[in-house]
Amino acid sequence: MMQVGLLHPLFVGEVSGADLTRPQTDAEIAAIEAAIAEHAVLVFRDQRLTDEQQLAFSERFGSLEHTGGTGISKPGEQRLHPAFADVSNLDVNGTVLARDNRRRLYSLGNMLWHSDSSFKPVPAKYSLLSGRVVVDKGGETEFADMRAAYNALDNATKAEIADLICEHSLIYSRETLGFGDLTEAERATMRPVRQMLVRTHPVSGRKSVFLASHIGRIVGWPVPEARAFIRDLTEVATQPEFVYRHVWQPFDLVMWDNRCTMHRARRFPPNAVRDMRRTTVAGDAPTMAAAAA
Ligand code: OGA
Ligand code: MN
Repeated sequence: MMQVGLLHPLFVGEVSGADLTRPQTDAEIAAIEAAIAEHAVLVFRDQRLTDEQQLAFSERFGSLEHTGGTGISKPGEQRLHPAFADVSNLDVNGTVLARDNRRRLYSLGNMLWHSDSSFKPVPAKYSLLSGRVVVDKGGETEFADMRAAYNALDNATKAEIADLICEHSLIYSRETLGFGDLTEAERATMRPVRQMLVRTHPVSGRKSVFLASHIGRIVGWPVPEARAFIRDLTEVATQPEFVYRHVWQPFDLVMWDNRCTMHRARRFPPNAVRDMRRTTVAGDAPTMAAAAA
């Protein structure tokens, strides 16, 4: 029998009584979907998943995103099946990437608050991150509740942002860390996409702010004003009361809803092995009717 305990006053459920290495019944999948609609983040402990089992479980929630579209990883450099985002710091041979390795520096963008694939025309629905080898110093993952963030805004701000459209791109988040030496081909894969700033969750009906460090512009606004405003909103959204810090144990599986949360990785020693593997369930639709523009 699956049970859900709470790890934070606002969100994050810890699910017990589930064995994700086995095929799940339709009722079990429905229970997980109901739990994540309510709690936004679910923690499953001690799930010793193979890649195949993680894929099989993830596919029960919809079609999976495939990675490798930016050209930062070259063909032959990928350690995992293309439906995995390799969130590790390892190369194909399982060796820790050098401190100045370009792929490592690029992936340090995960330390900025974000929502997965908000830079894609149809942003991600769920992410499922499996901690295969975790670090014991640092390397936590923090989550922030964007429903609580929305609720915290005053009515004037809610009205002001109701119809705002933001442009998201990996170029913006990487520039923030001084990672600007992108090739033209890489930039072409990272062209900004438009997303609504306010979303309504299709199951819970709750509103949330769709923030990410990938935002570089608000349509119709001067750029510095937009960026200052997004920083202000992000500050509200990531205040300590709205944040859960996940301290990884080996074989934790953490599943989150990218439509109503943000997350970020925390620092850890550059020579420590951290093998984290993410599968990503694609979203159902663009956030705005005219997203094709
Ligand atoms: C991710 C991610 C953070 C971490 O997997 O999408 O941002 O702590 N991970 O590795
Ligand atoms: Mn992420």
